[in-house]
Amino acid sequence: MSLEKQDDFDHRTWLKRKDLTPIETVFLTALIYIDKRLRIVDYLELLEDAYYKVNLQMPKSHTEQYDLDNKFWYWYPLYSLGFFSVLAYIVAAVSGALLGFYYSPSAAGDPTVAYQSVKMIMQDVQFGYALRSIHRWAAQIMMAAVFLHMLRVYFTGSYKEPRELNWLLGIILISLSMVFGYTGYLLPWNQLAFWAGQIGVEMALATPIVGEWGAQLLFGGFTLGQATLVRMYILHVFILPFVVTALIALHVGIVWVQGIAEPH
Ligand code: HEM
Repeated sequence: MSLEKQDDFDHRTWLKRKDLTPIETVFLTALIYIDKRLRIVDYLELLEDAYYKVNLQMPKSHTEQYDLDNKFWYWYPLYSLGFFSVLAYIVAAVSGALLGFYYSPSAAGDPTVAYQSVKMIMQDVQFGYALRSIHRWAAQIMMAAVFLHMLRVYFTGSYKEPRELNWLLGIILISLSMVFGYTGYLLPWNQLAFWAGQIGVEMALATPIVGEWGAQLLFGGFTLGQATLVRMYILHVFILPFVVTALIALHVGIVWVQGIAEPH
């Protein structure tokens, strides 16, 4: 059914037709109301058109290519690892946002506040122990899934033309996921965190030419302190979530447009 656009078209009379069920009438009234103001039907049609045009350019699926009918290919479960990474990422994001209600990076120049707040989450907050465990496990499971997903893409040759850009985007994603993990690891400001931070500063300082500048930028100086923790905190909760979410959306969007590759 097409929604008429002429000025003399009377929607009210048209909607009173006998053959419409009450649900259809409510749906169409809402659709016409929104469409009159935002022209969504036009834009949806444009989007649909673009989608089909792009899809025509895409290679055949594995099933079509090898004329497999609907036979189950036994490597297919490994094709779910990318989606599994997305799920783990969502669990980490939601549990992380909840942890954010209780965690505090530092106060008045005292980074031990962070350690105290994690201790409080573990001991006093209802389900705090579970929340922190879910966040930590989700992050680790995500890293494992992303790595295995990369192996799947590599061994099925799915990185080849026309998917090279998505492979490069994947490299950026796995690198940023590691930075995500590292910045989160430092947040409890316990012994593990402190010494992992120390290794980070020393690695930065050992880098030729840009070492000192890198240590200043990332760790807030040559020794660990409140500036280090606040930098890690802002990266972990303010910058990386937006950047990584946007890049995952782009990565999955490209898969949607290109279709899944047949194994080479
Ligand atoms: C945050 C990390 C990542 C997420 C959430 C993610 C998500 C996904 C998803 C959902 C798919 C659809 C197919 C599938 O599930 O296997 C996919 C495909 C793909 N991914 Fe990733 N991915 C990530 C990291 C990577 C990495 C590290 C690489 C490689 C360096 C990569 C390269 C690709 C390529 C080339 C495809 C297309 C594969 C095909 O068409 O068969 N991705 N990704």
